[in-house]
Amino acid sequence: MKERLLLKPIPAPLSAALMFLFFIIPFSNLQAQSEIRQIISFNKDWKFYLGQVVNVNDESFDEKNWRRLDLPHDWSIEGKFDKKNPAGAGGAFLPGGLGWYRKSFFIPESSKNKNVFIDFDGVYRKSEVWINGHSLGMRPNGYISFRYDLTPYLKYGNGKNFLVVKVDNTHQPNSRWYSGSGIYRNVWLVTTGKIFVDHWGTYITTPVVNNSGAAIDIYIKVKNTTTNIKPVVLSSTIFDASGVKVAKVLSEINARGNGTTENSQTTQISKPHLWSVSDPYLYKVVTQIIIDDKPFDEYVTRIGIRSFKFDRDQGFLLNGNKIKINGVCDHHDLGCLGAAVNKRALERKLEILKAMGCNGIRTTHNPPAPELLDLCDKMGFIVMDEAFDMWKQEKTLYDYHLNFETWHKKDLEDQVLRDRNHASVFIWSIGNEIQEEWATDNSGSKIAMELSDIVRSLDMTRPITSALNNHDWNSNSILRSGALNLVGYNYDQKGFASFPQKFPGKNFIGTETVAALETRGHYDMPSDSIRLWPAKDDEPLRNGNKDLSCSSYDAVSAPWGSTHEGTWKIIKKYPYLSGQFIWTGFDYLGEPTPYEWPAHSSYFGIIDLAGFPKDVYYMYQSEWTDKTVLHIFPHWNWKKGKKIDVWAYYNHADEVELFLNGKSLGIRSKKGDDLHVMWRVVFEPGTLKAVSRKNGKTVLTRIIKTSGKAAGIILSADRNVIQADASDVSFIKTMIVDASGNPVPEADNLIKFSVSGPGTIAGTDNGNEADLESMKGSDRRAFNGLCLAVIQSKGKAGNLKVTAASKGLSSASLTIIVK
Ligand code: GAL
Repeated sequence: MKERLLLKPIPAPLSAALMFLFFIIPFSNLQAQSEIRQIISFNKDWKFYLGQVVNVNDESFDEKNWRRLDLPHDWSIEGKFDKKNPAGAGGAFLPGGLGWYRKSFFIPESSKNKNVFIDFDGVYRKSEVWINGHSLGMRPNGYISFRYDLTPYLKYGNGKNFLVVKVDNTHQPNSRWYSGSGIYRNVWLVTTGKIFVDHWGTYITTPVVNNSGAAIDIYIKVKNTTTNIKPVVLSSTIFDASGVKVAKVLSEINARGNGTTENSQTTQISKPHLWSVSDPYLYKVVTQIIIDDKPFDEYVTRIGIRSFKFDRDQGFLLNGNKIKINGVCDHHDLGCLGAAVNKRALERKLEILKAMGCNGIRTTHNPPAPELLDLCDKMGFIVMDEAFDMWKQEKTLYDYHLNFETWHKKDLEDQVLRDRNHASVFIWSIGNEIQEEWATDNSGSKIAMELSDIVRSLDMTRPITSALNNHDWNSNSILRSGALNLVGYNYDQKGFASFPQKFPGKNFIGTETVAALETRGHYDMPSDSIRLWPAKDDEPLRNGNKDLSCSSYDAVSAPWGSTHEGTWKIIKKYPYLSGQFIWTGFDYLGEPTPYEWPAHSSYFGIIDLAGFPKDVYYMYQSEWTDKTVLHIFPHWNWKKGKKIDVWAYYNHADEVELFLNGKSLGIRSKKGDDLHVMWRVVFEPGTLKAVSRKNGKTVLTRIIKTSGKAAGIILSADRNVIQADASDVSFIKTMIVDASGNPVPEADNLIKFSVSGPGTIAGTDNGNEADLESMKGSDRRAFNGLCLAVIQSKGKAGNLKVTAASKGLSSASLTIIVK
């Protein structure tokens, strides 16, 4: 992990002189600190063009018709949902294409004796990069991070440099699921001295961990780009989270000219503060290269000290304590922001999951943005870091199988090198439902062994799994290889019970479970007879609903999966099941199951695409957290006389009593392994009230009222103060209410959002899997009473006013402070 030094944004340079200033400021600071590295964001002021271009590498190339933008950028999300787009349902019917980026910049004279690198966190896909007309290389994998050395080709002082990035996402489909297109992750310019800690050049492990002490092994790779051997001192200082120095270790090495030199250091920390999911405590290791008593380079690695074990009998142990991995699979898109990475949007996702009691993330099916892992370290998640969705055999026509042969080694190595210091990473996954599982020869075994050897050559501290859908040792070529030390089941919940007999001595993880389908706020009656697992392939998942909604009762699942409750009942019962990663935490773009235009996003999430929890969220919260929960549903606006099933998820209570307009409808208690209680009620309008009780005393009360006509809007922001960094976002939940302020549960009013002040509308959404409105537009229909606007700061401080207006409703506004 790198220490990233973000400069305050500087307005777009108007002239070469201004561009020069942009770089001269940080670099002259740097001189004062001798050769210490600088890492600056390289996201601002790119030019972009979608389509074919010629002579783009000419210095005199005219960018007149190109659009100015800042990264991260995803052009697919800006496009229209269209049945004809070649990405198809898997790619959310959004467009791909060929895109070009150009950026001009100046590098100060003072950098002449330094090295200058450009780091791309991810470019989707088939990128090629040129500096001043020299090709630096190409990278087909759209999910991997990579670096190029600009040093040999740079001009200094008044000489203008220009970078060109070609991004080719023309041939589709090529990813499961929505990939986005463009330079959709961050870009960094890294300047170091001639002798420096190499890219991803530290590896810090804790071979001994207990409450009284931890041994820390620090491996450092030093690169010397001078021709001479140079004696240097390597200093590693460990700071605790409050900045107190807790250990320091020095070593002297001779850094070989034109090459790399490796060194290992060992130190101890007494009474370490251990990292756990409930207390994700991080230390900071500052590695310095010291030459002639002066620091020449400085490299920061954050680490967490923890011990863990997968155990065939006890499941998963963290620091000696048994815990279940209550995880979810997470696809990388950020709803209406598309694939363009946004740290706050990632953090919001994790906050919502954490509040549900989730403690694990599987990065399906690719290496994630580095920011996700930083946040998981900080917030306490157990990450299964996944490399591939296919090997040599394709899943979609143009996917990575075309590049696997040439690139798998480099891509996998880079992923492990980048991610192996993260406290949150506990499992490497070398693949998801890889077709070679079914190979009748040993081709799956061979690749599995090669990939796991690559991982183990770089990290021996974590188990390797593959998310398998063939759970038979004899017929699964990957399993048979013996390369995996954690057996990962995708689905097959019925098979969990017999795991110890089938795989004696092996450790288990449910790498992918559930696959239930739900649309937030939609309810089909009766609740329990729509689709129960196991079911036949041809049963209507959507109950014939014209708007393509699925019922929100936990009773609808894909035939290969099960309901949430059905799965959790099994996982919680057997101690050897170390946990699961539910498919999925959030809805994601693509894979609307079953495929039926215009549905374009998935229904699998516990939380919808806009970030609004579906009802089953509260089942998990009642089981996975200490929070006292009572959640009742559905809404209370129905036709008189209709039979309505009222469900309640609750905890910390013996019983729940339901009242309709003051009349008791009876007391219910969970029996055996029940996870909810239910009443079948003949609807009459009014007030539905639920009371949970323990030993006769009221624990919680919940009330739902029949609403009148939509009359107004209530806006609420997840954060009312955001940073003026042109990246930070506030999520504005927009609720339609009646004249008395009651939510109107099926309201679909068209909302027009507007912003005044230093902010823009970065996207809007409502969680409707089949809504064809542009995700970048400012108009959005409410869906089942709710919609969302994402407001992004522009880079200036001030007060920002968000207004939501809708015909026939009184409008609403709120203020966000940008500072
Ligand atoms: C799995 C697959 C996922 C997704 C999921 C839906 O088989 O690994 O990518 O398709 O099914 O349930």
